[in-house]
Amino acid sequence: MKNIHRDNLTAVVQHSFAGISDERTRHLLEQLVGHLHAFALQTKLTHDEWRAGLGFLHEAAHITTDSRSEFSLMSDVFGLSSLVDLMSSRPGTTPGSVLGPFHARGSPWMTTPVNLLADNPGEVVLLHGSVKDEAGQPITNATIDFWQNADNGLYWQQDPEQSQDNLRCQFKVDASGCFELLTIRPKPYSIPTDGPIGKLFRASGRSHWRPAHFHIIVEAAAYQTLVTELFDPEDPYLDSDAVFGVRQALVTAYQPQNNAADMARLGLSQPYLSAEFSVVLPLARA
Ligand code: BEZ
Ligand code: FE
Repeated sequence: MKNIHRDNLTAVVQHSFAGISDERTRHLLEQLVGHLHAFALQTKLTHDEWRAGLGFLHEAAHITTDSRSEFSLMSDVFGLSSLVDLMSSRPGTTPGSVLGPFHARGSPWMTTPVNLLADNPGEVVLLHGSVKDEAGQPITNATIDFWQNADNGLYWQQDPEQSQDNLRCQFKVDASGCFELLTIRPKPYSIPTDGPIGKLFRASGRSHWRPAHFHIIVEAAAYQTLVTELFDPEDPYLDSDAVFGVRQALVTAYQPQNNAADMARLGLSQPYLSAEFSVVLPLARA
């Protein structure tokens, strides 16, 4: 008979995973058990508090669907998503930032210069930039997956008035590793507050807003894939992002442009804003 008591419980539970053959998975589970038990011991967790915690998880499960995960949101608002992003970012390369729930695979393929304006209202922005390696050489086989919200602050998944391909695309950079993309200025956005995370935010007085941003995934063979965002420096929520995604290197100024030749080349009849995003990708880990 195994006599389980306070001093051997953690080790016994950790040992129960000894049969897992993958060493890393086993290590992660042992550490998870160790940290969970340490949390309960250090806080002297009571039955009522433990039940309240489980209730929070039950509510999260209840509101979670295929297209809306309260658990991913939990990871975002507790800063875990950002911590994992930051741990994988190498100094001197473009930092990662949260993926968020509105990435959908299979965006339409387009060619740079990309034009996503369609009939979207909003301020016109030319996003332009390059993808380079750590030595400053262009990465000419890079592809970019791009998505953003519309002028009403909503992503296409949240707004039946938008087509499912609105304000999203994939494209290859050109032969010099550069790109241009005509779009509209994104708007600040509230994370979903109708679930347990919303209750937590109301109880803590935390801001549920995200500053306006573009979402960008950059991929190239032999390089680490970068999932990141680009922020508007004039946004009122830049210092209080609900999911901690803002990094200095991901904030870019919007410059007014009114050069007639550029406007003609871009097919624009009005002045526009331009924003630059130059990406540095690290080589993939061997
Ligand atoms: C977003 O960028 O849209 C987002 C990111 C994290 C949580 C919710 C929304
Ligand atoms: Fe977003």
